[in-house]
Amino acid sequence: MNGTETYAIDDVAFIGRTVTEYEHMFDLDLSAWEGESVLDCPGGACAFVSEANTRGIEAVGVDLMYDVPPDELRQKCEEDIDRAIAGFDGVEDQFVWEFYDDVADVRAHWSQAYQAFIDDYEDRFDTGRYLPAKLPDLPFEDDSFSLVLSAHLMFLYMDKLDHEFHERSLLELARVASDEVRVYPLERFDGHRYPRLDELLDMLAEEGYETEIRSVPFEFQRGADELLRIEV
Ligand SMILES: C[S@@+](CC[C@H](N)C(=O)[O-])C[C@H]1O[C@@H](n2cnc3c(N)ncnc32)[C@H](O)[C@@H]1O
Repeated sequence: MNGTETYAIDDVAFIGRTVTEYEHMFDLDLSAWEGESVLDCPGGACAFVSEANTRGIEAVGVDLMYDVPPDELRQKCEEDIDRAIAGFDGVEDQFVWEFYDDVADVRAHWSQAYQAFIDDYEDRFDTGRYLPAKLPDLPFEDDSFSLVLSAHLMFLYMDKLDHEFHERSLLELARVASDEVRVYPLERFDGHRYPRLDELLDMLAEEGYETEIRSVPFEFQRGADELLRIEV
């Protein structure tokens, strides 16, 4: 490593996390949301929707890729995991190895997540749990979900998604939430916090939302140990 290299992914990866990762990165006590409706957007290849439903939560996932058949998604996910894992080569020291033991353990978590996701996604027309849609526009009425979760899109991919996208997406996520929105992480791939976060907080305050930057019991990308909570 030459000292200037950072972790990077060319386009938005179709990968996902296990419920345990979500519980940590969103500081989430799932039992507190039993009987409630929760939106995961973007859901990617996450196990969250599948497992949350088995725990009595009405969870729904939205992703722009959810109009793609399961076999194609499986292939895309396997390729994207390979690329993402290869991206750690030489930059491992930019990550905190506490939640995950090593790179193989990261792969094990993401593989477990996408296998659970694909199994559940195959029944999507019966369950209605996975809907294709594209932020910043969601096909839901106001206040449709008690809790809205959003991980690893906003802030992280700021080189591909402009500031207006961030403004409109946060407002849209808040519009469809009746209680709260949680967004993680607040950092870009280079580990620096999204530079215009304060402007977004001001904008949300002007629209009548209270916000909080809250510590979470999870840090993988060094410094990424806080989430944005929007109280609706
Ligand atoms: C890195 S994954 C994150 C998935 C999951 N939230 C997680 O933390 O593992 C990013 C996802 O965002 C989806 N995506 C990209 N742009 C989007 C948009 N404008 N609206 C909805 N989903 C989008 C991609 O298809 C991909 O599945």
